[in-house]
Amino acid sequence: MKKIFAANWKLFKSPKETREFFAQFKELAGKATGEVVFFPSAISLEAASESLKGTSIKWGAQNAYFQAQGAFTGENSAQVVKDLGGSYILIGHSERRSLFGEGDALVADKVAFVQGLGLTPMLCIGETLQERESAKTFRVLETQLNLGLAKADKTKPLVVAYEPVWAIGTGKVATPEQVAETHTDVYSILKALGFESAPILYGGSVKPDNAAGLIKQPHVNGFLVGGASLEAKSFSEIASV
Ligand code: 13P
Repeated sequence: MKKIFAANWKLFKSPKETREFFAQFKELAGKATGEVVFFPSAISLEAASESLKGTSIKWGAQNAYFQAQGAFTGENSAQVVKDLGGSYILIGHSERRSLFGEGDALVADKVAFVQGLGLTPMLCIGETLQERESAKTFRVLETQLNLGLAKADKTKPLVVAYEPVWAIGTGKVATPEQVAETHTDVYSILKALGFESAPILYGGSVKPDNAAGLIKQPHVNGFLVGGASLEAKSFSEIASV
């Protein structure tokens, strides 16, 4: 399966900073060992689109509504992302779930809408520390996948990103053993649901010095990187493992 190295820039980088990043990153991108995808913040998407024209580097939005247009103040249109040349929409990131109240039903509508447009949803799932410590990880992931994929099309592209909430932005990366065990579980849940061809990315404090150990684990098909993707050099190192 091809590897995917995705960068989630969250609410960082202006359009100017986005252009400057890509001027540098394009020089380093040749060493990537898989597909490279960027998720800039909404206001910088057009700058990304212009910077990446004519390259094989993909990009998408961190969130989009499940309708193309209408009276939906503050939302993003996946249709516009498509028209600008984007390929992916990140859906259900833990920050969307915990800070903006997104639930699995909304996630399911977004996954289905994005697939219907011909874009690829990158569905994020993950357990909190409390859920892991009370041995609920499998059940939490199974529920998020069951409900989040309830309206999804098995014949269309899908990518899943497993991001343990306790490892996001904390510097506390999951151990290779935890990643191996959990990715194997995620694969088995996806298989039972008929989505076994979906690549499974790991996210949560991925850095150049831990990426090589994590990529070797079973059913790890790439990474979704936050902090370490903001610098061209560190992200290109991660994308070349
Ligand atoms: P960090 O790599 O900063 O931990 O963020 C992970 C993440 O949330 C990517 O979506």
